[in-house]
Amino acid sequence: MMMTELPAVQGMVRLCEDGWLQGWHERNGGNVTYRLTREEQEAAISCLAQPSGPWTPLGISAPNLGGEWFLATGSGKYFRNVPLDPVDALCLVELNDAGDCWRLRWGLSGGGKPTSELAAHLINHSVRKEATGGACRVMYHAHPAHIVAMSFLLPLTDREISRALWQSETEAPMVFPGGVGVVGCMVPGSIELAWASSEKMKEYDAVVWAHHGLFCSGPDLDTAFGLMHTVEKAAQVWTLVRSCGGARQLITDDEIRAIAEGCGVQIREEFLQ
Ligand code: 13P
Ligand code: ZN
Repeated sequence: MMMTELPAVQGMVRLCEDGWLQGWHERNGGNVTYRLTREEQEAAISCLAQPSGPWTPLGISAPNLGGEWFLATGSGKYFRNVPLDPVDALCLVELNDAGDCWRLRWGLSGGGKPTSELAAHLINHSVRKEATGGACRVMYHAHPAHIVAMSFLLPLTDREISRALWQSETEAPMVFPGGVGVVGCMVPGSIELAWASSEKMKEYDAVVWAHHGLFCSGPDLDTAFGLMHTVEKAAQVWTLVRSCGGARQLITDDEIRAIAEGCGVQIREEFLQ
């Protein structure tokens, strides 16, 4: 079997293509990582032909990720090219037992490195793995235009942005009843952005990166993509309504409570009045 035939690799390719088609990935914008299960790791090992790369320090330490393997997009690679050449645009990264060094096991055939947000992904994998009892496997970062636009129009607080999203579409409180975290404008790829996001990810499964994009987590690629899509759709409705002169009515706080109750999810009550 070839690496590109593995379902996990095909899932990555599909997410990248779908994200590109949504318009969320101009140029090399965005990145995704997927933490393999033990079975997927063994299947991948049986496909490997190329020698391992050298161990490289991560600059962070994530002991609870020691020995884990991740599929990742490459830094500077274009999502629109992933389906055409996944062996160049994607990579398979192994972490050492201490969780502080990585090495390349597959991919990046034309050269390069894993995404510049690798530290952000791994710190957040570490936090979400802990917070979800090991269920979380995906970190997905994209540049959807409407959530970025919203970050210019509202105070940059978790409450203001979460509530505005919930007020814009009934799906929003159903899909992210815990709301979204928000961090200010920070340097892309910086360790400061990684740490600030991880503080939010202790509580939220999605974090708005002001004036930049959105960072989503999930147990699988579909859930992380679906979260990205739902947050962005609510942000799109919010900005459309704003652009048309503002809302005559919103989804009220009581309606948000009723939606959450109706679908059996716990809304973050402190964000409502
Ligand atoms: P990479 O190409 O290094 O993944 O960076 C893209 C990006 O969106 C940085 O935030
Ligand atoms: Zn980005």
